Amino acid sequence: MADDEEDISIGRIPELYKPPALLPIAQLRDQLLYAIETHPVTIVVGETGSGKTTQIPKFLFQAGWCNKGQQIAVTQPRRIAATSVAARVAEELNTQLGQQVGYSIRFEDVTSANTQVKFVTDGLLLREMLVDPLLKRYSVVMVDEAHERSLSSDILLGLLKKVLRKREDLRIVVSSATLEAERFLEYFNPDAEEKVFGKTREEYGRIIGIEGRTFPVEVQYLLEPTNNYVETAVDAVMSVHENEGEGDILVFLTGREEIDDAIDLLGDRIADLPSTSQRLMPLPLYAGLPTEDQNLVFRKSPPNTRKVIFSTNIAEASITIDGIVFVLDSGYVKLRNYDARLGIENLNVVPVSKASATQRAGRAGRTRPGKCFRLYTETAFERLEEATFPEIQRSNLAPVVLQLLNLGITNVVRFDYLSPPPSSLITRALDLLYSLGALDANARLTKPLGARMAELPLEPMLSKALLQAANPEFGCLSEMLSIAAMMTLQGNAFVSHDGNKKQLDNARRKFAVEEGDHLTLYNVYEAFVKSGIQNVQWCHQNHLNHKNMVKAVSVRKQLAAYLDRFGVKENALTSSSSGVLRVGGLPLAERVRRCLTTGFFAHAARMKSDGSFTTVDGKTTLWAHPSSVFFHRKADWVIYTEILSTRDKIYIRDLSTVSMDWLTEYAPEYYKVKEGRR
Ligand code: CDP
Ligand code: MG
Repeated sequence: MADDEEDISIGRIPELYKPPALLPIAQLRDQLLYAIETHPVTIVVGETGSGKTTQIPKFLFQAGWCNKGQQIAVTQPRRIAATSVAARVAEELNTQLGQQVGYSIRFEDVTSANTQVKFVTDGLLLREMLVDPLLKRYSVVMVDEAHERSLSSDILLGLLKKVLRKREDLRIVVSSATLEAERFLEYFNPDAEEKVFGKTREEYGRIIGIEGRTFPVEVQYLLEPTNNYVETAVDAVMSVHENEGEGDILVFLTGREEIDDAIDLLGDRIADLPSTSQRLMPLPLYAGLPTEDQNLVFRKSPPNTRKVIFSTNIAEASITIDGIVFVLDSGYVKLRNYDARLGIENLNVVPVSKASATQRAGRAGRTRPGKCFRLYTETAFERLEEATFPEIQRSNLAPVVLQLLNLGITNVVRFDYLSPPPSSLITRALDLLYSLGALDANARLTKPLGARMAELPLEPMLSKALLQAANPEFGCLSEMLSIAAMMTLQGNAFVSHDGNKKQLDNARRKFAVEEGDHLTLYNVYEAFVKSGIQNVQWCHQNHLNHKNMVKAVSVRKQLAAYLDRFGVKENALTSSSSGVLRVGGLPLAERVRRCLTTGFFAHAARMKSDGSFTTVDGKTTLWAHPSSVFFHRKADWVIYTEILSTRDKIYIRDLSTVSMDWLTEYAPEYYKVKEGRR
């Protein structure tokens, strides 16, 4: 539940409200409700912006699907979508967010006993199944944006298929792009001879299409390819602004850094505009953007001003912004990718698929005819893949394998996947989980370690380290709780004031210790708590994001509560954290780093003389992220807990020094097997 007033107001955007009766879906209300009433599975297909996400849950709610004390769950692949649509639906139903309509995402639950429509991330609903395997508290589960094929939503569909064989009353709504609709239906449908609760194939599922209400979009290509699409995008923005008619601009880039760069570049150009001309207002949009800034994007432009929204892929489908007439498409997207051989999961910038490019262009024609400028050539477009590969085929599967096992699905290879992952990914996941001690030699979950790791809402490596911290050998539970909580901020503890990177570096340096970034994060956390968690001023002086620091405090509390439930008490082993410096003869800092190694041994690297790092097999070069203590300092062996890749470099972010011996000490099997293979 939200204990934080600020969270309740997330995304409240009253001036946006527009009678939803105008949406194309309104005419289909009865037909939709009838289909859902009479079929276990309803697939809804419709253009983005046609009202699937906001209207279907509302229809269901109004039609009494929550009357028996059950709730409606709507899953989203992205946190930012879950929070923003929940706010919108609450608004439309004229209730306060967190009351009838709420959302729940990892570490942030804005629901109450009154909540009937609940927006959740797909990953979170998977977690709920650990405690409520048949999802009994829900009458309807809507899997939204299913065509995106996120890892968690694919797994969720597989599990829902099983649940449907056990619950006659459950209804599933899948919202999807046209291409995939048939495939989803086919997946859920019983086999030809089979009946499920008396229903045959034909009676089991339905597809309902919503007529689009879109306008033509003229597509233009570059004649020559560009080697810097950020600059080209900025040029194109200026050209649209100076030569085209009214309407806001939406620019698709791949990530936050690019977006910041583009906004900087555009800032210089705007300064050159004659003061008499229409103004340009650049705005960023990416996951993790503070709510206030997020809301700016949705707001109507001020008079005589054209908005230019620089967005990641989130504006492609899950978030709709009104008033866009021009789309500039870089043609690239950041996608999760997993190198099973290296065991490194990262985000790579790759060309979009044709389906994505088409979807992006469509964003220009929502309210009137629009234009899409593709910042690549027509030949390049022709060479694009038809559709994006499902995430399940390019991800680290250790977290989901762990969850499936904990749900009692013992044969993860045979699971009825919508698209089966390559067996190498499953093997790799099993290997890793085995090395972490979560599985025994028969690939069964260990108790209590494996089961607890599955239950903690952290990735397996971090779960392991946290659970080990209570072990008297390490005795650093209090410290690891703070470190784990800080790690969930994913590098967003610090903020620069007006882009002043130098001041920011100095602020960071104040907390830095030579053992590495994790203990540095710990120092930051401790200092924050000492300053008093209400102390906004202190945060400002130290370039810390107060809201995120408060979040870390909340996350820490939630993690401690999990451990408490496992019977692991925070204060049982360590007295007040800073007091005890030695348990078992080893200094605290070493115990913490050893403890981290028990989880992150697979992420080891060694510094080379040029300051870059190399992976254990020597085949991949990694670079310390500028925010790391080891961006400047020397080290030998390190473990890292976060990896980020840009077009030309792989960065590792949170690093701690370790000794090479610890790797074989805590993961003898892992490193033995590895050596054997090399
Ligand atoms: O899910 P789908 O893409 O079909 O549409 P939706 O997200 O339900 O959005 C329906 C309409 O609500 C959009 O066309 C927007 O005009 C509006 N909307 C909005 O203005 N602000 C939001 N945060 C969400 C939706
Ligand atoms: Mg939607």
